[in-house]
Amino acid sequence: PGTVNRLVVHADQGETTIAPEIYGHFAEHLGRCVYEGFWVGEDSEIPNVRGIRTDVVEALKKLDIPVLRWPGGCFADEYHWMEGIGPRDTRPAMINTHWGMVTETNAFGTHEFLDLCEQLGCEAYVAGNVGSGTVKEMQDWVEYMTFDGDSEMANLRRANGREKPWRVKYFGVGNENWGCGGNMTPEFYADLYRVYQTYVRSYSNNAIVKIACGPSSADYHWLTVVLERAARYMDAISLHHYVRGSGNWTDKGSATEFDEGEWFVLMKNTLTIYDLLEKSIEIMDRFDRRGRIGLYVDEWGTWWDAEPGTNPAFLYQQNTMRDAVSAGIFLNAFNEHCRRVRMGNIAQTNNVLQAMILTDGPKMIVTPTYHVFEMYKVHQGATHLPADLTCRAYNRGGEELPSLVASASRAASGLIHITICNLDAQKPAEFVCEIKGVEISRVSGRVLTAETMNAMNTFEAPDAVKPTVLSGASVRDGAIRATLPARSVTVLAVR
Ligand code: AHR
Repeated sequence: PGTVNRLVVHADQGETTIAPEIYGHFAEHLGRCVYEGFWVGEDSEIPNVRGIRTDVVEALKKLDIPVLRWPGGCFADEYHWMEGIGPRDTRPAMINTHWGMVTETNAFGTHEFLDLCEQLGCEAYVAGNVGSGTVKEMQDWVEYMTFDGDSEMANLRRANGREKPWRVKYFGVGNENWGCGGNMTPEFYADLYRVYQTYVRSYSNNAIVKIACGPSSADYHWLTVVLERAARYMDAISLHHYVRGSGNWTDKGSATEFDEGEWFVLMKNTLTIYDLLEKSIEIMDRFDRRGRIGLYVDEWGTWWDAEPGTNPAFLYQQNTMRDAVSAGIFLNAFNEHCRRVRMGNIAQTNNVLQAMILTDGPKMIVTPTYHVFEMYKVHQGATHLPADLTCRAYNRGGEELPSLVASASRAASGLIHITICNLDAQKPAEFVCEIKGVEISRVSGRVLTAETMNAMNTFEAPDAVKPTVLSGASVRDGAIRATLPARSVTVLAVR
């Protein structure tokens, strides 16, 4: 007790910048993520700007949202962008075969997405279609969005009402091409990647970052083969990592009804991100010694059974304190590996999987996970500070986990921020923190916690879980001392 949970931050050693994009998001044409979540149409009674709902945009801006990935996911490899441009009443409908066989009206297309990114003030990450699209279709899309000169595609964009090209910084060449994106072998995908990416051009000063499709979780074979064959043609490679409780894909468990055993399993499964990143980076280091290629964890998060009474194909799940602690662990892990991890996109922004925002018609609430992103935004663009953590174990059923995970950074203002998750569902942690190279004068903190493990925000009680001031944090004998509540996420600001 007292000194068991000790963090030593090396403020004299920071070198690497935490890419703001680590705190990125992902919106797919799936369930109510894009339609209702963002797009309500210009004639809606829900306040909107050119059809995009204002409450959601305002909420996401408070996170300093750095980048948004779209249109999928699995949807990306069956999306034909030309069907989503021009007058809305002439756009053809299609079937969203992955997500419930529902009709996709194409009302939300390229112009609407890039308008959304401009309203949010974030970078655009467009995922292209390799599975069922052609090289020319992909080439034309990039030209349509980003070419400033006189060309068929640029002129078509102008005819559709947009004179100047948009800035599209990130372009993904396919999504999950080992599965929903075409069931390819890594050899076949790597060769296709080389072809498709050739025609993804950087037009008119829009330096495009090309992203190859990487593996699901620990499929190191896919990662190795794609890098071996195509490393020199990519700027980044993706990684997808979803976590759940002890169930399988057909019985993933409830998002809200669980006991401490299930809580513990999620914590254990979330911690796998550390090992996964280390092994993936080790492989990348073999093929890219200079560290040029980024590892983009462009889908991650918890995946539970859909809420009872909702369409299971819409992946609508509630979000509790358990999801919030899991998100805090992921984000700390990304910070710790920011040498290579230069983007993360939690799945998904609204009403799908581990969402930031839940809507019910005109009503909108933010989730506990949203609050974690808001608390952690101080790390965006800051200098990562190495830190050594010793902590008490969190034991259950003969298994042992670390009870804490932490990460630290220094902002341009000189302020040092430390984010700490207490994984233990029952026990608070007496925490001591030393900072090498800095004389600490003041500390303040905010904490996200709740009375119960499955506390959540609802439309009836939208603020049941929200951050509060961490009371009792102090500086004594040159070190910070604080009590971190059980099942909590804390951010400390140190001067
Ligand atoms: O995020 C939901 C789905 O999960 C995405 O469409 C797909 O890429 C992944 O399997």
